[in-house]
This record gives sequence, structure tokens and C-alpha cells, in this order.
Amino acid sequence: MSSPPFGPTAREIEAEGERLFRALLPVDCEAGRPWTWDACQAMAPLTLEINALKRERNAVILAHSYVEPEIIYGVADFKGDSYQLSLQARDAAAKIIVFAGVVFMAETAKILSPEATVVVPDRRSGCSLAEAMDGAELDRLRALHPDAAVVCYINSTAEVKARADVCVTSGNVFQIVQALPQRRILFVPDRLMADNLRAQLRRWGSEKEIISADGTCLVHDTFTVAQMEDARARFPGLKVVTHPECPADVAAAADFVGSTGAMMSYVRNTPAPHFLMLTECGLVSRLQVEAPDKRFIGGCRLCPHMKRNSLEKIRDALRAPRPDQIITLDEEVRRRAARSLERMFALAAAN
Ligand code: 13P
Ligand code: SF4
Repeated sequence: MSSPPFGPTAREIEAEGERLFRALLPVDCEAGRPWTWDACQAMAPLTLEINALKRERNAVILAHSYVEPEIIYGVADFKGDSYQLSLQARDAAAKIIVFAGVVFMAETAKILSPEATVVVPDRRSGCSLAEAMDGAELDRLRALHPDAAVVCYINSTAEVKARADVCVTSGNVFQIVQALPQRRILFVPDRLMADNLRAQLRRWGSEKEIISADGTCLVHDTFTVAQMEDARARFPGLKVVTHPECPADVAAAADFVGSTGAMMSYVRNTPAPHFLMLTECGLVSRLQVEAPDKRFIGGCRLCPHMKRNSLEKIRDALRAPRPDQIITLDEEVRRRAARSLERMFALAAAN
């Protein structure tokens, strides 16, 4: 095997290919298993180049659990859910943050780390929730409900965060809303998470009124109770694990509802013969690698936006980011959005 001039040696490439192959060996979701020995060897020069560029440029790669496993196990410095990654972004000392996730997550990193250059591998990696509401629409809703506290899910644009009183993630939404002094809450942009929030507050005996907007996640909105019942009939002892972006009837019939980070902890700590993960397939891939004794029965779906991330695009963003890969924000919007994120950090720590 020949090596490129001044690049890694053939031996280094083979060792990197073997590292990738071993890391990715357990991944076997519905889409098949493209991480063969040859595919990992072919990928190795790219992961070596990305890891060298990170050191050269003082860059860090944050990866959401839904992106492709070769990003998670090949080049990411931190992997996790939106809350864990926003803490990493806030505390990052690097000059460059590459966010392998979707644009609202990279915007959140820029809000929290304004001195860093924040880059997103593919500008088209949107989110059906964030795209469901702009600042003008939130102004309109707020005017209709002037006495309500405005709570925005982190899956929202910087403009929406800037207009909210507090931001929340899937991991802290129930506790933070419960802790707010206001009885009326305008929750945006996720209608299904609002339904789940209403149901949870009712279980806690809370009198709060939740007014919602109309966004939904294009992945989690598709799961059904019929799918769960069919799976339970075929796999006795099955545990069904869902995200609060799912419809309320699905969440109510599941064994566990939580953020992607909490879903992973639940699976790790729960003895069961099989699990049905009603979420994006990247989370199942992570669990196959990190909890290899657990069995999953499929049923997950792909998020097209998360899957726009690739090693090639990350390499290009690190070599010389194009203007469309660099996150820029109006400073006043950034400052106001930072306030609603900082309130979230404070309330999450206190509750
Ligand atoms: P988590 O914060 O739970 O990872 O959720 C992010 C997301 O986009 C789920 O669809
Ligand atoms: Fe947005 Fe849904 Fe994709 Fe998460 S899975 S990034 S909520 S579209």
C-alpha cells in the first residue's frame, strides 16, 4: 500500500483503518453494515487528516449522537445530546468548534462561545422544528398571550431563543417548566413536546396551562402506538424507549421517555431481552457499540439533516471553511439568546 507524500505512512493508515474497523464492528442497523475492513481502510487517511488538522488549528469536534458512527468514533472529541453538547460548547477553549449535528446546534455553540469560529459541515442540515417558527411568529404569539412565560425548546433559531424567557432541552423541559413561577406557559416550537409536557405536569398535579405552537420533528412524529403493539406482541419482555418529541399516545404507552442521553442511560441500566428505540437510528448505532450486550429490534428512522454530515465535509470545513459553513449572528440577537440559555443552565442546576 503506498502513502501520499508527507502524509501518514502506510503502516499508520493500516493501524487507523483497523482502529475504525474494531470501533464500528458492532454497528448493524437496518440500513446494512457499510463499515467493512476495506471501507475502514479507505476512510483511514481522511480521519487521520481530520485529527491532524484539529491539532494544527486548535479545533474541537462536537458530534450529536445521531450523526454517522464514523464521525462519532473516528474524529469526534465529544458526543452526546443537545444539553451535554451545549455545555461542551460553552466551556470549549478551542479556537474552532466544528459542530457535526444540525444548524441550530451550531448556532447554540456560537451563542455560548462567541470568540470561537463555529463551523457547520453542511449549511443545509436544518431541523423541521427549528424551521417551524421565526422571530415574527413568536412576536405574534407573545402578543396574544402577554401574561405567559415564553419557553423555547433548544431546537429553535437564535432569533426565537432571543425572544424567549428561558430555553429548555429534552432533558430538562419538565423540571424547568414546573419550576417557573408563571401559571401560563407559551411553549414553542414543538407541539408534540408540549402535549407530553402537559401530560407530565398533570401527573405531577400541576395547574399550569401550556399554550403550544405547531412544529413537529419529521422523525419522531412518525412513530405510532400500533407499531409498538405489534413489536410487543412479537417480542415478549420488550422495552420501548422514546423521546419527548414523539406523539403523546406513543410516549404514554412507552416504558421510558427522555432525552437521547437519558435514553442511553435507561438502556444501559435496564435488564430486558430486547429494546425498541423510537428515535433516530444513530442512537441505536451508539448503543450497539457502547452497550454490546443489549439487543435492538429495529424500528428507528433516519434524520436526513443529521445524515448530511460527512467526514469529507468536516475535513473541508477544517482545511478552509467556506463562508456558508461559518456561523455568524447579529450581536444583539446573540446576547439576548445567551440570556435564555444561561437561565436554562441555572434552572437545570437548581432543579
Ligand atoms: P436530544 O437533545 O435529546 O439529543 O434531542 C435532539 C434532537 O434533535 C432530537 O430529535
Ligand atoms: Fe430536528 Fe427531528 Fe432531525 Fe432532531 S431528528 S434534528 S428534531 S428533524
